[in-house]
Amino acid sequence: MKAIIPAAGLGTRFLPATKAVPKELLPVLDKPAIQYVVEEALAAGADEVVIVSNREKQAIVEHFSPNDALVSHLQAAGKPVYAEAVRHAGALPVSFVEQLEPKGLGHAVYCAAPVVLGLDAGVSSDSAPASASASATTAAPVVPVASVSATAPESFYVLLGDVIVPGNNMLPRMLAISREHGNASVIAVLRVPIEEVSRFGVIAGEALSEEVWRVSALVEKPPIEEAPSDLVVFGRYLLSPRIMELLAHTEPGAGGEIQLTDALVELLATEELYALIIDPTSGFDVGTIENWLATNNRLSRTAP
Ligand code: G1P
Repeated sequence: MKAIIPAAGLGTRFLPATKAVPKELLPVLDKPAIQYVVEEALAAGADEVVIVSNREKQAIVEHFSPNDALVSHLQAAGKPVYAEAVRHAGALPVSFVEQLEPKGLGHAVYCAAPVVLGLDAGVSSDSAPASASASATTAAPVVPVASVSATAPESFYVLLGDVIVPGNNMLPRMLAISREHGNASVIAVLRVPIEEVSRFGVIAGEALSEEVWRVSALVEKPPIEEAPSDLVVFGRYLLSPRIMELLAHTEPGAGGEIQLTDALVELLATEELYALIIDPTSGFDVGTIENWLATNNRLSRTAP
């Protein structure tokens, strides 16, 4: 199973800290936030983790590339724990595709379509994903709809870097729900105070149990009075490959961006979508300064 991590955003909320350092590399305790996300995907059984990034974020490629000289230096200096931490980060199986323009989350996910659909071999070499060790990002692929329709690959994960799940327990539960419902798509949702819903995608649907809903509608960043519930999409998706076909022609929506939420709305016409209501203590938002700080504080109290 593949995992896609969109990481091409501008990090505006953290400026000027993110002027030269990608938002995804800001630390949560001792690790960059995106390393938690990569490790979560691998813990959930992903055999390939694809980061969708851009040319300004070469430091992310470097973080996941081997640095043998630094490892040797740390070993010689009698610092084996740091040596191992550096070796581990450089050995994580990560590849990259580039999003050439910031056109929204839906577009970022679509940039990874050739990887998800197993078309890498069929696209030109400058649009195939680059490995971290190659230290290079690549051009965003444009996948003809006909090619997308011709294959029937497996579901894939999307993990947003604004959320970290240190216990790695969310994706396995989503996978179990998907399996129970014929490999349907599943999203993680969080109950939030109604004043906060306009920052998120919001679902409507029916409760099947205390934790699982069948989704009947979604809306991206609605005004409070139009929000269909207080359950918001919270950064983890297990998606049917058909979503790539839909993203190929999804028009810009909220904020003028191509929204993953809008493609999910279209998906509902032909496929089922389920939502797992997560416990607010299992996933942590690191997407605003306040929440990033609170997450660091909270995890520092539980760190070994
Ligand atoms: C994205 C999604 C939104 C979701 C949010 C948090 O919004 O479009 O539906 O609720 O992530 O997972 P963004 O924060 O990128 O504006």
